Amino acid sequence: MKILVFDTKQEVSEFIANKVIDQVQKKPDTVLGLATGSTPKEAYRYIKNDYKQNNRDYSKVITFNLDEYLGVLKDSINSYRQYMKEALFEGINIPNSQQYFPLKTNMKNYDNLIKEHGGVDLQLLGIGLNGHIAFNEPGSSFQSKTRIIELDESTRKRNSKYFRSIDHVPTQAISMGISTIMKAKEIILAATSEVKADIIKQLVDSNINENLPASILKTHENFTLVLDQEAARDIN
Ligand code: F6R
Repeated sequence: MKILVFDTKQEVSEFIANKVIDQVQKKPDTVLGLATGSTPKEAYRYIKNDYKQNNRDYSKVITFNLDEYLGVLKDSINSYRQYMKEALFEGINIPNSQQYFPLKTNMKNYDNLIKEHGGVDLQLLGIGLNGHIAFNEPGSSFQSKTRIIELDESTRKRNSKYFRSIDHVPTQAISMGISTIMKAKEIILAATSEVKADIIKQLVDSNINENLPASILKTHENFTLVLDQEAARDIN
């Protein structure tokens, strides 16, 4: 595992955005694994600005999102498809038909679909306060594939800021599995702000165990943890 610590969240976002931009320059038909949530938002904004300013081409890029809520309509403001549309897809030229989300209709085939496209070249991840990656909550098997999962109460509580109330937060989601994520050729997990300091310390110090889903990433041969000073506060 490589750990990079930047002074600010802004620098973390620029680093991630530049990784994506460089990857697509190097390989125009790159397969990207994408996360939602608050962490990558600024990076996506940076990618959109760079697209406008520098005439980039994303027309051959294929994207696989990590997860999607169950029971939230596709066009709802709370769907991850809608998040991606607003955060990134509206501002660059990836054709709709090359943007994949795990759904009830394709979840059994999602891992195969990724494989058929040559596998994920660059996977972006965030981390939950309980150590989840995608929606693989503590206790998820390291062998897990894309499937329906029950969301932890702590995850529903944290994500309730995007909904009218916690009662409106779905109880289930479809998520790439941990074995699915681990097949990516390169993985970057970003964590910013003080709220992540505790889980990042646990991640760095812990042994590899299924109660801390992100811990398996430490066995990946091309894994980088990208932090701002606040998230890195408690690590040596
Ligand atoms: C989102 C996802 C989640 C988030 C994690 C952190 O697609 O898979 O694992 O990355 O919950 O969320 P934020 O960035 O909002 O702190």
